Amino acid sequence: MPIVSKTIPSKHNGLLEITWVNGTKVLDTANANYSYGSLQRILQYGLKKINVKPDAHILVLGLGGGSVIPTIYQCYGKRVAITAVEIDEVIIDVAAHEFAITSNSSFQIICEDALTFIDRDKNFYDLIIIDLFVDDQVPQQFYEASFFEAISQRLLPKGKFLFNAGMNTQIIVPVIKKLQMHLANQIQIEKHLNVGRSNTLVIGEKIKED
Ligand SMILES: C[S@@+](CC[C@H](N)C(=O)[O-])C[C@H]1O[C@@H](n2cnc3c(N)ncnc32)[C@H](O)[C@@H]1O
Repeated sequence: MPIVSKTIPSKHNGLLEITWVNGTKVLDTANANYSYGSLQRILQYGLKKINVKPDAHILVLGLGGGSVIPTIYQCYGKRVAITAVEIDEVIIDVAAHEFAITSNSSFQIICEDALTFIDRDKNFYDLIIIDLFVDDQVPQQFYEASFFEAISQRLLPKGKFLFNAGMNTQIIVPVIKKLQMHLANQIQIEKHLNVGRSNTLVIGEKIKED
């Protein structure tokens, strides 16, 4: 039985709930688990399907409470460098004060819109994790081919992305078809339906230079 210990209002994400489930502290919104619950296991499933080198540079779009950060270290070791982008300063504060997720010399947190960031960024990444939700919905701009073209431009050759595409397969399946058509020459796409009995994950690998 979940026990809500705290609610925190956020203009980007509505009412955030810090909840205890079976002895684990998790972050929820009104209709979704954001961090440290089923969401963490769903991303872990995807990361286990991807190999990266020990000193990889990994970009996380959508920090939330930061549950993917320990999962990254568990899967790939502590030598990776991580940059995380999060639009909501309230969530960044929650990640720090409720879950001890803070920047250090190899882990940088940037408070910015992911679309603005990806358009202005000049770095290249071995892996980009795309986990962008407002409550239980992926904002429409992150389903657009133009967003994935920008993602492709930020990937090193053979670089990969892991996209948590959400729960609504009626929306997601046509989106994946559109991406497969648009990015056929640059990205190889594989989909994993019903991960954690709810979400679709998309794994992309850059097959050639833009
Ligand atoms: C499911 S949570 C991320 C969970 C996180 N990856 C983890 O492992 O705990 C989704 C996050 O996407 C963020 N988000 C939504 N729209 C965004 C945008 N336009 N730019 C950056 N972050 C955004 C939300 O504020 C929220 O924190």
